[in-house]
Amino acid sequence: MKDAVTPPPIVRQLAELRAMTAGWHLAQESVGVVPTMGALHDGHLSLVAAAKKLCDRVIVTIFVNPKQFNNPEDLANYPRTEAEDAKKLARFGIDAVYVPEPDQIYPNGFSTTVSVAGLTDVMDGVHRPGHFDGVATVVTKLFTQSTATDAFFGEKDFQQLQVVKRLARDLDLQITVHGCPTIRDIDGLALSSRNLLLSDRARTKACRLFEEMEKIAEGLNAGEAFEDLHAAAVKALETAGFTKVEYLDLRAADDLTELAAPTREARLFAAAWLAGVRLIDNIAV
Ligand code: PAF
Repeated sequence: MKDAVTPPPIVRQLAELRAMTAGWHLAQESVGVVPTMGALHDGHLSLVAAAKKLCDRVIVTIFVNPKQFNNPEDLANYPRTEAEDAKKLARFGIDAVYVPEPDQIYPNGFSTTVSVAGLTDVMDGVHRPGHFDGVATVVTKLFTQSTATDAFFGEKDFQQLQVVKRLARDLDLQITVHGCPTIRDIDGLALSSRNLLLSDRARTKACRLFEEMEKIAEGLNAGEAFEDLHAAAVKALETAGFTKVEYLDLRAADDLTELAAPTREARLFAAAWLAGVRLIDNIAV
């Protein structure tokens, strides 16, 4: 039995990771991977806990993937907190933290892009051009490099979760992709590394996004028209200080088709800007 407070080894080279995982596969152990970009919060840690529960071995990856940032300023500002992240992971007794050097992911001359059509034509795919190609490419690399049998992603990024499930299926990757529920702060704000970028003042307003989404969900349950609920929510968010509501969409949970009413398993998706920070969220309706 592993000592749960021993900090996990930090692995920066693919060859070292491969040497570790080869032994695990020989012993027929299951291997869980939790891909992250660091700045770990309780949402990430819930994925680590889920992986620990299901898998014999667990790898957390930390890589701020330049290919998925459509805005260089956003990439430069993205929080990087490796030492704190390693401390937060210590209590889980995981087997490795893979923090690859950039050339381990994108060696000189790297020229392959994984692109998932359809699911990426809407929402973040439209508002963040190239984002999902970057995500799909890096996730494919992290899956093949980690040789994991299971992978864990948060439902907070629901569109990303669907894209990753699709690429794993389409490319016959031998990995099961698990979606885990969004973790929220006490006021309802979905946990996100980007919340660190909110000023104290903006932070107090940020929960309005979830509140307005809940109002829409309640209205839909009461038989009200989505169009009216949508208009009221956008107005309320703008009045609260959100500068731009990029989308507030009702969509089918499986293929993300736009819906006018929740006639099949549906989710409400939102992206909105508050004080220079882009917040996204989604809930089942
Ligand atoms: O959700 C994230 O943090 C990233 O998009 C991921 C999946 C780690 C790929 O870089």
